Amino acid sequence: MTDERINVDDYEEAARARLELGPYGYMAGGAGDERTLRANAAAFDGWQLRPRVLVDVDEVSTGPTVLGTEVEFPLLVAPTAFQRLADPEGELAMARAAASAGTVMTLSTLSSVTPGELAAAAPGAPQWFQLYWSRDRGFTQELVASAAEAGHRALLLTADFPVAGRRERDARAAFALPDDLPLPNIPVSLQREDFHRALGTIVDASLTWRDLEWLRSCSPLPLVVKGILTSEDALLAAEHGAEGVVISNHGGRQLDGVPATLDVLPEVVEEVGDRIEVLFDGGIRRGTDVLKALALGARAAMSGRAVLWGLASGGEEGAAAVLALLRNEIEVGLKLLGCGSPDEVGRAHVRRAGSSL
Ligand SMILES: Cc1cc2nc3c(=O)[nH]c(=O)nc-3n(C[C@H](O)[C@H](O)[C@H](O)COP(=O)(O)O)c2cc1C
Repeated sequence: MTDERINVDDYEEAARARLELGPYGYMAGGAGDERTLRANAAAFDGWQLRPRVLVDVDEVSTGPTVLGTEVEFPLLVAPTAFQRLADPEGELAMARAAASAGTVMTLSTLSSVTPGELAAAAPGAPQWFQLYWSRDRGFTQELVASAAEAGHRALLLTADFPVAGRRERDARAAFALPDDLPLPNIPVSLQREDFHRALGTIVDASLTWRDLEWLRSCSPLPLVVKGILTSEDALLAAEHGAEGVVISNHGGRQLDGVPATLDVLPEVVEEVGDRIEVLFDGGIRRGTDVLKALALGARAAMSGRAVLWGLASGGEEGAAAVLALLRNEIEVGLKLLGCGSPDEVGRAHVRRAGSSL
């Protein structure tokens, strides 16, 4: 047996061995019975690829443009909180890994660094900022402005978090944040006994679609609404001026019992795919998972846990290795599918398992 890590599962195993039970459970876990967490991964079994042969795939290009940001392959780093739990360098290491891999790093509001500090860690690299919109409007306004000033290229508003989901692994492990974890992008403290209740205080739960206008007036950045699971809400996002949506159930961490994101993708693409960019996240462990999402109409996919396992098992190098691994799987998959680039992957390249198309 060698210690070589050849797929994402290997990185998760290595991360699990390194992390304490509390942080590992926080990262790996979902809400409730974790039905949605499992469904996200299982949904990829429900769709099969339809490869075409004798297509010239001698040269394939893996890089699309996502919301005006050029990336080298169609998988971006999703925002995940508290990355210093995974590695002492946390978000800074993740940013350098994303930069060297040639993709976007999305900074969570719940990070140990400001947007400006992240930008300084990887000058010129594409970075996006994810917003948890606090009740303190002045604070939110300054935060959003600081992301634009730092050169972040898009603003992702996470809309599926009026309150933290019930995550039982955290309760069982009595998970709490270390006292010395800085969280400069929120105006409240999370280092309290009831971690989940404290998390609920970081957002203004009274927000509605109408508030998007105010947010747009504060920021020149393209606005993306993250956490969309219905065609109705995707349409509202488009009507309220969002340039994109992320089909996401927060990695199964919020409302347990909602569908797998892959199964929601077709209805959303049908409703708004010609008006705004549709991004996708949830359960990605393989390059072929990304290809299925592209075939169902996603512009690009985002990865939460897979890259986190890289970071937790080997810091910046580990995160970069996971991104390189997935990039390679995407490239091999494109060739085997008979596609010269992600743009060429279409609805005809996928079918529901057991059906004709
Ligand atoms: C440990 C962890 C922390 C997360 N923190 C955030 C966050 O701060 N903001 C946010 O919008 N989404 C957050 N998410 C959700 C991710 O952005 C993404 O939607 C999800 O992880 C995708 O599923 P995957 O982990 O199966 O790839 C978090 C997910 C995980 C696993």
